[in-house]
Amino acid sequence: MNKNQCAYTFSKLYDDVYVKDAYIYSIKSKNDIVIHKPVAQFMSVKKAIEDVETKKEMYELEFMSNRRMKKIQVGKKDLASRANLLSLAEYGVDVNDLNVKEVMKHLRNEIDNLKVSFIHRNVGFEEDEDKKVYFKHYKAIGYKEKSKYSGNLAVEPKGSEENWMRLIKDEVVEDTKLALALILGFSAATVGFVGEELSIESLLVHIFAESTHGKTTAAQLAVSPFGSPKLREQGLILDWNSTQNAIFGLLSGNRGLPMVLDESSMLNKKDFTNLIYILASGSDKKRMNKKLEVRPTKTWETTIISTGESSILSQSNKNTGLKVRLFEFGNIKWTKDSKQAEKIKSIVTNNYGFTGIRFVKKLLDLGKDEVIRRIMKWKSKIEEDLKENSFKGRIAMKLAIIVATGQIVNEALNIKLNLKKIKAFIIDNENKSIEDIDLPSTAYDHFKQSLVVNKSKLNKDFGDTLGVVGSSTYELWGKLEKNKHENYVVIITTKFDEIMKKGGFENTRYILQAWKDRNLLSHEKGKLYRRRIVDPKVRGAVPCYVIKLQNGDGKKQEDKKKKAKKDDKKDAVVENDESKVTKQNTSETVEEDLLED
Ligand SMILES: Nc1ncnc2c1ncn2[C@@H]1O[C@H](COP(=O)(O)OP(=O)(O)OP(=O)(O)O)[C@@H](O)[C@H]1O
Ligand SMILES: [Mg+2]
Repeated sequence: MNKNQCAYTFSKLYDDVYVKDAYIYSIKSKNDIVIHKPVAQFMSVKKAIEDVETKKEMYELEFMSNRRMKKIQVGKKDLASRANLLSLAEYGVDVNDLNVKEVMKHLRNEIDNLKVSFIHRNVGFEEDEDKKVYFKHYKAIGYKEKSKYSGNLAVEPKGSEENWMRLIKDEVVEDTKLALALILGFSAATVGFVGEELSIESLLVHIFAESTHGKTTAAQLAVSPFGSPKLREQGLILDWNSTQNAIFGLLSGNRGLPMVLDESSMLNKKDFTNLIYILASGSDKKRMNKKLEVRPTKTWETTIISTGESSILSQSNKNTGLKVRLFEFGNIKWTKDSKQAEKIKSIVTNNYGFTGIRFVKKLLDLGKDEVIRRIMKWKSKIEEDLKENSFKGRIAMKLAIIVATGQIVNEALNIKLNLKKIKAFIIDNENKSIEDIDLPSTAYDHFKQSLVVNKSKLNKDFGDTLGVVGSSTYELWGKLEKNKHENYVVIITTKFDEIMKKGGFENTRYILQAWKDRNLLSHEKGKLYRRRIVDPKVRGAVPCYVIKLQNGDGKKQEDKKKKAKKDDKKDAVVENDESKVTKQNTSETVEEDLLED
């Protein structure tokens, strides 16, 4: 009897099977004679593995096939039924109709003696069964079990933390831009930690400049606290040219590890904008497989840094809400010179994956409430310095996450990144970028598009009771009006706020004021609204915004303003105009679409 058999005599469930050397034996008694008979070639369950995310249990099965040892991973259910067990024959497991019962008993005996090891396949923050938050890196940090990473990313620390720290002290701490790049990388964990509580989407940062400006170097520095900054070999950097599936593959399930998409100039503009939306939204809901079946939604909440030669925002000015989703840092030299770039590249590609863990431990120590408190404190400070714009609150929140991250990095790594300078730098950058974006025009486009989609909610035949009015499902937003020169949309003020909020425009007063200046708004003196009867079934006038329907972007209206002022009748929208609204131009336009039945 060998050592294994000895152990089994105490703990095994079925004592009529055992393993010895290269075979599994069954024990049978016949007429008081005990027969030991080999029934299958050697096989053994080596490991029990539990996926901490799905809670599924798996086994590592080792077996003899064609005179060599093989290992495969099987699910618990593969060993739980005859049919499933028999299907393992295709991998070479020696199981068949004749021996399946004994093989099953043998494997069951083995399972009882195994210690479970835990794995995770995703990265970043996660809540356990008791709602305790922990972080999944190459190991789980703050989890009750020792769980190991079993995914595709090179996140296991490599080289030495000292080398990395020396680089930071020598080249980064005193340098506002490189310090910012570093903080952006760490911010991924902050976003993963409290992003949901703060209702912010992933942080998306695009850095653009000409070649040899150190963009890729800065991005490599950013991801190095958490993992390999190599473009290949499963580093945290992907090529923008990678397929969307590859990009989403790396992002899905990521709640706290920075990701870089390098070199955007290769992509065409259309793909780019769509992709940015999907990336920022944190899920790839709309993905379908080849059979056009919708795949399960995969989500992420992290910081994504993109690099390229040109601005994304300037290519997609008309795209509502992009501004709040994407920060851009344009035309910045991130490195002092090529020598410094080479030094950073060389050190971070050989020494990485240490300080991200320190940072995450600090976040867990502080707890969500304290981290949120700090972010909110920075947010109100930043709002004081941020130029007025309709996304101010949300932009300030994201900038506050960056500064708060810097503060926590300083504490976790015991370094002194200059937060004051970094804060001033990002606010200044943002203020410049706000100047470039014509928010009122973007908002106007969003408003018109929303109307087209919901035109059934506008009462066209004012004064008449439309069949649908009054039915319980009918939702009335307002009505269309016209005077001699112009068509107007009269929209209930609260509905207007709702529509704009959906597009990410929080500060509707600012937008309306800008439209008023551009002669896009008909209003009572000293007000932004007019009182109107919208629904003939409901008595009395309600405050409405009376917005001119105009094609093209709102800005063009500024030029017409002078001319318009000469026309006294311009602002006098004719109330109760029962005449049919007529088409004013023949081109295919939003206005035309709205006015069509
Ligand atoms: N500030 C700098 N001045 C001069 N050369 C630099 C500077 N920074 C980097 N380089 C050189 O450019 C090379 C590429 O650096 P990096 O990949 O960071 O630049 P990049 O801005 O991403 O350029 P590209 O657009 O070509 O990808 C470095 O190996 C270095 O030789
Ligand atoms: Mg580059």
